Amino acid sequence: MSKKLKIGVFGFGVVGSGLAHVLKNSKGLDASIVRVCVKDAGKIRDIDPDLITVNPDDILNDPEINVVVELIDDADAAYQIVKTAMQNGKHVVSANKKMLAYHIEELIQLQWKYKVSFLYEASACGSIPIIRNLEEYYDNDLLQSVSGVLNGSSNYILTKIFNENLDYNLALKEAQDLGFAESDPTSDVGGFDTLYKLIILTVHGFGLFVHPDEVFNAGIANLSPKDIELASQKGYKIRLLGKVTKVNGNHVNLFVAPKFVKPQEHAYTVESHYNGVLIQGNFYDNQFMYGKGAGSHPTGSAVLSDITALAYDYKYEYKKLKYYGGLEYTNDMDVEIYLRYTDKNDLALFNFKEISESLIAKDFNYVIGTLNLSELIKIRKQIEGKDIFLAYLGEE
Ligand SMILES: NC(=O)c1ccc[n+]([C@@H]2O[C@H](COP(=O)([O-])OP(=O)(O)OC[C@H]3O[C@@H](n4cnc5c(N)ncnc54)[C@H](OP(=O)(O)O)[C@@H]3O)[C@@H](O)[C@H]2O)c1
Repeated sequence: MSKKLKIGVFGFGVVGSGLAHVLKNSKGLDASIVRVCVKDAGKIRDIDPDLITVNPDDILNDPEINVVVELIDDADAAYQIVKTAMQNGKHVVSANKKMLAYHIEELIQLQWKYKVSFLYEASACGSIPIIRNLEEYYDNDLLQSVSGVLNGSSNYILTKIFNENLDYNLALKEAQDLGFAESDPTSDVGGFDTLYKLIILTVHGFGLFVHPDEVFNAGIANLSPKDIELASQKGYKIRLLGKVTKVNGNHVNLFVAPKFVKPQEHAYTVESHYNGVLIQGNFYDNQFMYGKGAGSHPTGSAVLSDITALAYDYKYEYKKLKYYGGLEYTNDMDVEIYLRYTDKNDLALFNFKEISESLIAKDFNYVIGTLNLSELIKIRKQIEGKDIFLAYLGEE
């Protein structure tokens, strides 16, 4: 492509403004933002007002613009923007994990069809270059699992709870005041944000497309002081974990759940709004990547890194899609969990194979035991809205 990058940006919020700032400080790149499309033309912004538009066509139909950077907070609108940009022959950079989780397979086909690049490093773990590492380095059978703390907002809340004894609601409010959590925190604390990222990592790590509905995900919204007390007594912290792992050689499983983490585990060291990703493989054992998973400048710099990559015609090759071919998704995997419940009838919903510890007390009931993940998938609608907290006790 032409090395002169003329960029049209969609969205000028946390990430869009961060990108503009880091680009201004990046001297070696022949790239400039020539148009910015937003929703509300009236907002005061730290950018030349002449660049602002509310008409997407001012970017999508401008033949001068060869790169579209999509940084909006609406996954459906983002999907339309990204599709149209590719159809119009523009290279695309995006940070939209939700859009990717639902449409990545189609968007990969489109980028091949229209012979453009489509890069999205910022969509998973902010400034940690995990996608390109999985894509470029871990490209053979040795990779066994990718897991970790993939959501900065919930990790900030959990850190405040465990390090400073802050109550869940206060910790959430603090995360919102600092801009780490959205005013509607469902995606972060419900485990959905982690799930979307995990789906993207699975494409690049294992060459498999998994629909979000196939995956069990639990969040931290029901965490109670009793759960925290029990975890602390056992010497654990709680972290929200996403894990994709190879099972029985030719299957892959994904799940998202809070996890009781031991001091010797990598996730134990991930504090505040940071992310940490553990890559485990045969022969090389464990490799751990740690860094800022969100925020204006860290995420803006990941977007800039993709823009820089466009200047030398970089494309994801999706080598694993071509290499593996035969991997299949499974939820047939035994997991050890901690389950706290209030209504005694709720316990009967869980088809435990084995229970190793249990307590029934006036104000605290729990069991620790093993069940099959496919059983959890079956009852996930039934347990929605109930006062139940579950945490994974297996390996990270
Ligand atoms: N924040 C982070 O740390 C982070 C990290 C990694 C990935 N991401 C991802 O990056 C994306 C942007 O996040 P953000 O935190 O920057 O969001 P944000 O601060 O809420 O900003 C969203 C921006 O999108 C604009 N917008 C919304 N709908 C639009 C539409 N249909 N057309 C044009 N502009 C539209 C808004 O316009 P107005 O300004 O006019 O309202 C606003 O400028 C999301 O996909 C998010 O998941 C964020």
